[in-house]
Amino acid sequence: MRVLAIESSCDETALAVVFQTPDGRFLVEQNVIASQAQTHAKFGGVVPEVAAREHAALALPLLHQLGVAHDGQGIDALAVTAGPGLVPALRVGVELGKTLAWAWKKPLVAVNHLEGHIYSVWLSTFQAPSGALDRTEERLDPTFPALCLLVSGGHTELILMKDHGRYELLGMTRDDAAGEAFDKVAKLLGLSYPGGPEIAKAAEQGNRAAIAFPRPMLDSGDLDFSFAGLKTAVRVYLEGAKGRKRDKRTEDIAASFQQAVVDTLVGKTLRAVDRTHPHSVMLVGGVSANRLLRETLKEALATSVPEVMLHVPDLALTGDNAAMIALTGLYKAKRGEFCDPLTLQADPHLRLA
Ligand code: KG4
Ligand code: ZN
Repeated sequence: MRVLAIESSCDETALAVVFQTPDGRFLVEQNVIASQAQTHAKFGGVVPEVAAREHAALALPLLHQLGVAHDGQGIDALAVTAGPGLVPALRVGVELGKTLAWAWKKPLVAVNHLEGHIYSVWLSTFQAPSGALDRTEERLDPTFPALCLLVSGGHTELILMKDHGRYELLGMTRDDAAGEAFDKVAKLLGLSYPGGPEIAKAAEQGNRAAIAFPRPMLDSGDLDFSFAGLKTAVRVYLEGAKGRKRDKRTEDIAASFQQAVVDTLVGKTLRAVDRTHPHSVMLVGGVSANRLLRETLKEALATSVPEVMLHVPDLALTGDNAAMIALTGLYKAKRGEFCDPLTLQADPHLRLA
């Protein structure tokens, strides 16, 4: 089966073709991404209408770049990200998917963007390792039940994946997502968008113990998160430093902030492991590119539950891409989970469970 996927939920316009071989392996035949990050950097964050305009300008040239036949020959199904995300941005991809499905007379699958991030781990189990962790080098598929820490620009969730397509939401952020906190704190520090990689880079030269920022809700007893207060703590620290010479360098603030986020994410994940006894743990979403987070979670799991394997996507697949959407679509297509191209609508709040 060969699936063509379209992803346009935020600021990456992405298309991909994934093929499942008769012996069950997956091949990413095409994976093209046009990032708009530079465009949005001027505004300090993603502007939905600007993102939509860029998606509309880029989608057809990227489709052309894939080299797919004009009548869709060779493609068995189409998959498109239907949500969650920014409505004007999502709509461009959804309308393209619907139009191609109608014109090519192919079945259409609506994919949840978060489910796509989860499936990036399955893509990584067959792709060549690139900077992956040793524990994942065996390249085994996750086994169920699998606990998933999903950390992106819009979401921070702990999800129990019981089987393909079966999820239970265990906890989520009550305000800002982890990636959003990285982006907002980067802005406060005068670093550019997207803030996650900038903070991580600055933090390499900083002292993570320089400032005792809070570890929000670490002891709350539940599996929810909250990062708005941590961002405010950084702002208050910076305002307090105004007027006098700031006694800590940007690098120290970045390192202390990053450590607070990582401690919180890892602490809650360990609690979820304790409660749900998963066979595997997955770390996915844009923030999963963070090296400190990967290493700290890996060490914490190795210490407390050495029999549980950590699965992370290859670095090239942590951010938004359409290969993960195609693979999710392929699994859904095999279960016959198609949608009606005449009625499908983008849903900014689409839920996994
Ligand atoms: O999953 P993603 O590409 O898009 C959404 O679905 O939101 O995640 C983007 C987020 C941004 O907030 C970005 O700052 C963050 O991932 N990010 C990182 C790193 N690389 C990207 N955060 C921390 N450390 C990184 N190395
Ligand atoms: Zn994403």
